[in-house]
Amino acid sequence: MLDRLARLEQEAREAVASVSGLQELANVRVRYLGKKGELTTLLRGMGQLPPEQRPLVGQKANALRSTLEELLRQREAALKKAAAEEKWERERIDITLPGYPFAAGQVHPLTAILEEIKAIFIGLGFQVATGPEIESDYYNFEALNMPPDHPARDMQDSFYVAPQYLLRTHTSPVQIRTMELQAPRLPVRIIAPGKVYRRDDDATHSPMFSQVEGLAVDRGITFADLKGTLLLFAREMFGPKQRIRLRPSFFPFTEPSAEVDISCIICDGEGCRVCGQTGWLEILGAGMVHPQVLRAGGYDPQDVTGFAFGMGVERIAMLKYGVEDLRLFFTNDLRFLKQFR
Ligand code: FA5
Ligand code: MG
Repeated sequence: MLDRLARLEQEAREAVASVSGLQELANVRVRYLGKKGELTTLLRGMGQLPPEQRPLVGQKANALRSTLEELLRQREAALKKAAAEEKWERERIDITLPGYPFAAGQVHPLTAILEEIKAIFIGLGFQVATGPEIESDYYNFEALNMPPDHPARDMQDSFYVAPQYLLRTHTSPVQIRTMELQAPRLPVRIIAPGKVYRRDDDATHSPMFSQVEGLAVDRGITFADLKGTLLLFAREMFGPKQRIRLRPSFFPFTEPSAEVDISCIICDGEGCRVCGQTGWLEILGAGMVHPQVLRAGGYDPQDVTGFAFGMGVERIAMLKYGVEDLRLFFTNDLRFLKQFR
């Protein structure tokens, strides 16, 4: 019996040493220590031993059980450690490697300027209105006091898409559309941002560009309201020390009309290359709404007055950022655009 125990121990040690995985190790445990395992089976034969030998054999058998259990535990720990190390090697990442570059987007500089312009006028109580980019001859010209063959139509050389339809040459048609919708309620106080189109193409003129129209109609509106509004806009947009200058001008849809300049933001009025030594930079056209235009919009020029203005968004962006060629805003060169983060 003691011999068999010794052989069993030898066998079990070899079995434990030779396993290569946890599942195999579990099988070895069952084979030797399980309910029907070799050790248990052997001990069942103890009944046939002479009583005086039983304590010794029992002792040895218990010792063997402990030994085997300890062996199994050690082997299991070793196998688990090896598996963990292998997994670590396989999934190891080098946290010191540089990350992948992530290209963050940004708002286009023209969009940023437009948002700034909108915020200033919304703060003054203006609402944002819109109109179609394909416009009828009536809204783009006729209702704005430019009947067919009026010479002022030549100032805005146009893209016609059908006999009576064109790509709008300015945002002024939104003046008429807004008044038609709102008359006779007062006040009218809107800005109309949007794209406009003309047959122009050079460093300061693009065939597609953006304007922001402004229109205020109410009882008792005067030229002073126009001037005050534009001065406030200039100071919010370009800085608190800005001055503005109004020069007499002509638009068929305003009377009187003015071209509005701001003091040069580069030289502060001293005269430099950017302002052509004049100290002033033109930013928009404006005036008091012509009686014919009020009538076309459904208002009585005996009862109400109004002012209107139209500014070029690209021009304002060029001034604010010191950009000399407006076409840079549309060619989508990232080297240019990335400067406006
Ligand atoms: C107008 O378009 C008038 N509708 C403005 C107006 C509205 C006057 C309401 C009175 C009352 P003008 O053609 O000057 O006016 O254009 C206005 C502004 O648009 C110009 O000052 C300039 O900043 C800009 N602009 C004109 N043509 C171009 C172009 N081809 N590319 C970029 N900006 C332009
Ligand atoms: Mg002009």
